[in-house]
Amino acid sequence: MQATSGTYNDKVVRQFAVMTVAWGIVGMLVGVVIAAQLYWPTLGEGIPWLGYGRLRPLHTNAVIFAFGGCALFATSLHVVQRTCHVRLLSDRLAAFVFWGWQAVIVAAAISLPLGYTQGKEYAELEWPIDLLIAVVWVAYAVLFLGTIAKRKVRHIYVANWFFGAYIITIALLHIVNNVAMPAGGMKSYSAYSGAVDAMVQWWYGHNAVGFFLTAGFLGMMYYYVPKQAGRPIYSYRLSIVHFWALIAVYMWAGPHHLQYTALPDWAQSVGMVFSLILLAPSWGGAINGIMTLSGVWHKLRTDPILKFLIVALSFYMIATFEGPMMSIKTVNSLSHYTDWTVGHVHAGALGWVAMISIGSIYALLPKLLGRDTMYSTKLIDTHFWVHTLGVVFYIAAMWIAGVMQGLMWRATNSDGTLTYTFVEALNATYPYYLGRLFGGLLVLSGMLLMAWNVYQTYRHAGTPEDQPLLPPDAADARA
Ligand code: HEM
Ligand code: HEM
Repeated sequence: MQATSGTYNDKVVRQFAVMTVAWGIVGMLVGVVIAAQLYWPTLGEGIPWLGYGRLRPLHTNAVIFAFGGCALFATSLHVVQRTCHVRLLSDRLAAFVFWGWQAVIVAAAISLPLGYTQGKEYAELEWPIDLLIAVVWVAYAVLFLGTIAKRKVRHIYVANWFFGAYIITIALLHIVNNVAMPAGGMKSYSAYSGAVDAMVQWWYGHNAVGFFLTAGFLGMMYYYVPKQAGRPIYSYRLSIVHFWALIAVYMWAGPHHLQYTALPDWAQSVGMVFSLILLAPSWGGAINGIMTLSGVWHKLRTDPILKFLIVALSFYMIATFEGPMMSIKTVNSLSHYTDWTVGHVHAGALGWVAMISIGSIYALLPKLLGRDTMYSTKLIDTHFWVHTLGVVFYIAAMWIAGVMQGLMWRATNSDGTLTYTFVEALNATYPYYLGRLFGGLLVLSGMLLMAWNVYQTYRHAGTPEDQPLLPPDAADARA
């Protein structure tokens, strides 16, 4: 194909791709440490910044916002240029977004172990860092949406819709949930209180799942699955229905995190009903991705990148079946507070989010280094098996432990007294914590293989160069 004048800004995509791997290792290492602390509770005793209560938010922030975030920045900025056939709106803005986001991550990595926190899950960071996030995010929105505005094709490919929705929604969620009154350099009080505070927090928390951990990654699915399979998306019409249904329904499901609390009963029921409805668009979208392979299923046998992408979708289906079930009040009365929730989280996080990110990075990185493939395809295959096995160990252990805990906590004798003490339930959980730790170690070792493969790919690639812009043509405009 003839190149038009100019190049894409691939530098920022490469930077974010490399940092995805680096922060993935850091975040998962901290995950392994806290998994070990749950098995050996005295690990890190006496050192405040190694305490479980400080490392746990470090883990969640590092894996979601550093690992997942860098993967989302890398892929969205790659996809928007390739599907709009233009260079990013501004190179300076792109550099600001990259360095600004790294500054946010470093500030989080320092302040959380020091114990600075707002005490809101997934929104722990204190107000000065929150302000920096808001500025960087607005710059990202201008960069992404500005690039769409100067596109060379009339059509806006569906992956960009998902990325666009995630970018706009996260800005809204972040700003509304973090409205607070500063009370010192690293201390603030939320503008909300009581049940309203809880509702705003879980409206944020659930939509962080829906838009940060889902919509953006669906954007990845809609670009990298068809690209890697060499086929157009199974149904473009379904992808549009998928988009509108998903964003219309997600917003209302947040109260399922607050079943049996002081939240009004009707609000809890609204959360439950919308969670059940959410099953349909979630599965519709996943099936659209998986069916893209019709006619080329055999590629799954030889292409480990496709394996990552398709197995990610299978885990997405597992998590989005399980989630609606857990939102049913009677089921939630068993699952809430137990490790079942943690199992559900990691089916989504390690199975869906991590696998679609890893697959997408393996797909895009060599192309941006002027190569067809990574240094070693065999190593990608090993990574796939080690990761998959790790996830299965992790979530199976947590599912069994969770259901067991729920049943033991609620078991009563004929005279109404509890059958088990809390410590007995904890004792019964121990072997499963070891199983989870083993699974986590497998996942982490897979990430180290990835780092080695990325390093070798760079070493064999020479000086990376931005690729020339490709002119839009009918065949290319949709993939
Ligand atoms: C090596 C891989 C990982 C290990 C060993 C690991 C381990 C853990 C552990 C031990 C907890 C605390 C559970 C508890 O408090 O009972 C946790 C929580 C959590 N992790 Fe991970 N994790 C890993 C990867 C990830 C990834 C990749 C993500 C997201 C993309 C993630 C997201 C979360 C979230 C959201 C929570 C909080 C769950 C809740 O509050 O219910 N984790 N993880
Ligand atoms: C149809 C889609 C989904 C529904 C209806 C759903 C529903 C639920 C429910 C009912 C809970 C338990 C709330 C509680 O008892 O505290 C939960 C927790 C959670 N889910 Fe999902 N889920 C869905 C998909 C996902 C996906 C794909 C991910 C990850 C990528 C995810 C991440 C989480 C996290 C992080 C939590 C733990 C929140 C916390 O307590 O810290 N969910 N979800």
